[in-house]
Amino acid sequence: MQQAIAILDSGVGGLTVVREVMRQLPRENILYFGDTARTPYGPRPAEEVVRFTREIVDYLLQYHPKMIVIACNTATAAALEDIRSRVAVPVIGVINPGARAAIGRSKTGVIGVIGTEGTIKSKAYETALKRLSPRLQVISRACPEFVTLVENGKFRSEETHRVVSSSLEPIRLETLDCLILGCTHYPFLAETIAEVMGPDVALISSADETAREISTVLQESNQLARSDEQPVHQFFCSGDPHMFQKIAQAWLGEQIRLTPVVWRVPHIGV
Ligand code: DGL
Repeated sequence: MQQAIAILDSGVGGLTVVREVMRQLPRENILYFGDTARTPYGPRPAEEVVRFTREIVDYLLQYHPKMIVIACNTATAAALEDIRSRVAVPVIGVINPGARAAIGRSKTGVIGVIGTEGTIKSKAYETALKRLSPRLQVISRACPEFVTLVENGKFRSEETHRVVSSSLEPIRLETLDCLILGCTHYPFLAETIAEVMGPDVALISSADETAREISTVLQESNQLARSDEQPVHQFFCSGDPHMFQKIAQAWLGEQIRLTPVVWRVPHIGV
């Protein structure tokens, strides 16, 4: 069987990247791990996020993937360099692709970023954006409640609208023309976020650009899948399999093969 692309997140958020990978690279086998037992990662200390990311990567390495994609901004900010230094296959994060996509879209040079507390505190987007274009103005805001709404499948509800409006109120008054959805869970709330921000603000998700980067890296190393066999998409989650399966099937539009994972690592702290 062809080696797979392994994609991980704290929960269902990385499925936004999976959908784009399936669209752009339909022949690729995919392994996905959602750490739903320990979501959210956003409020956790960076060292803990690094530890969790290492555990998931070690789990996925059993399947000998050809690439690891950290489809979680919080884990990318905390653990990308650490994981790169530990594994032999290419490791891709979502922050640089998101920053590139926003720079390509913004006309005014005023860019908003929303993400988890961990991502915003790390200033990873600000650093990535300013490295590419030093004169940009970056306005950041943490939206800690969004991830829980998504993990509970509340993409469109009155509660969602209320939480999204009040969280975005301060940023809505700014003059930005682009808003980076700096958490892979947020595209699930895109319709509500777009309603609140209005038509003059483009929403940027890093999913498309990340999938493009995956494609480029695989192409350069001559590792793109070529077989005409039906690709295998396999999903693992560490928490409630029912909610994960329901969200994944609705988002991806296909039946999924899900393996609930019972962690056996002794030092796991939930
Ligand atoms: N989807 C993740 C991110 O992009 C993590 C959200 C969380 O677990 O707090 O940051």
